Amino acid sequence: MEIIRTAQLMTTWANSKVGQGETICLVPTMGYLHDGHLALVRKGCDIADNVVVSLFVNPIQFGPGEDLGNYPRNFERDAELAEESGANVLYSPDVKDVYPDGFQTKVSVAGLTTGLCGASRPGHFDGVTTVVAKLFNTVKPNSAVFGRKDFQQLAVIKKMVRDLNWDITIVGHPIVREKDGLAMSSRNAYLNKEERVKALCLFDSIQFARKQVSSGNQDAGALKKEIEHKILEYGDVLIDYISIVNAETLKECEVVDKNSVLALAVKIGSTRLIDNGFLYKNA
Ligand code: PAF
Repeated sequence: MEIIRTAQLMTTWANSKVGQGETICLVPTMGYLHDGHLALVRKGCDIADNVVVSLFVNPIQFGPGEDLGNYPRNFERDAELAEESGANVLYSPDVKDVYPDGFQTKVSVAGLTTGLCGASRPGHFDGVTTVVAKLFNTVKPNSAVFGRKDFQQLAVIKKMVRDLNWDITIVGHPIVREKDGLAMSSRNAYLNKEERVKALCLFDSIQFARKQVSSGNQDAGALKKEIEHKILEYGDVLIDYISIVNAETLKECEVVDKNSVLALAVKIGSTRLIDNGFLYKNA
């Protein structure tokens, strides 16, 4: 596996692969790789000749007071794991290379970014779409794989790609979970023992909501109240949002249907976790 540190070298590599008629899949990450990321890399290996894993903790998608300074990092381990999973390139530029002095451009998707995580993290999605647009232009992928845990992010990226006519297939990968159901996330590393137990409130609520729906409770408002009670039973957790939204428009549903997704953001101690799931079985 090659390690590439600058956009210029990354594009030279990409141009040579494109010139040889080979395909490239991009797996964008902020590092501290876990099995969820590695599943994305393996998916990339199935669909392209070359897989580029980007590792860049993107400062412009963190708000003031968020965890940019503490974000977990372990470059050596990430490089080993990416290579073992089949990546051809680990692209890890530094901040000055991505945002040189005088950088002024922002890529912004309206509408889809206003609710859910966008409401509590203003500017977050502009940071994501700006860096992903830069990665697309630098790595020149035919496809890119994103985890469905960041469900709103996936919808926003798909919209950006459609709106900007990029010929890039965006693949959403199913959420990879720990044995007890906790969605894998680099931020799980922040949880202490007690918080780790409380963090199960997210997945348990999704399971609970699915049972409710299968027994006929389709009133989204009533369901959200019951989910709130369920989460608060875990004690000492702070609910950011409990939303039941249409999977494509991200608009709140009044009645749960086959396209309804329960999306949750809950703060456990100082760690904000998100999770989501369709409410109908096999949806
Ligand atoms: O999902 C992430 O890890 C980040 O938001 C991404 C897509 C790598 C952009 O920085």
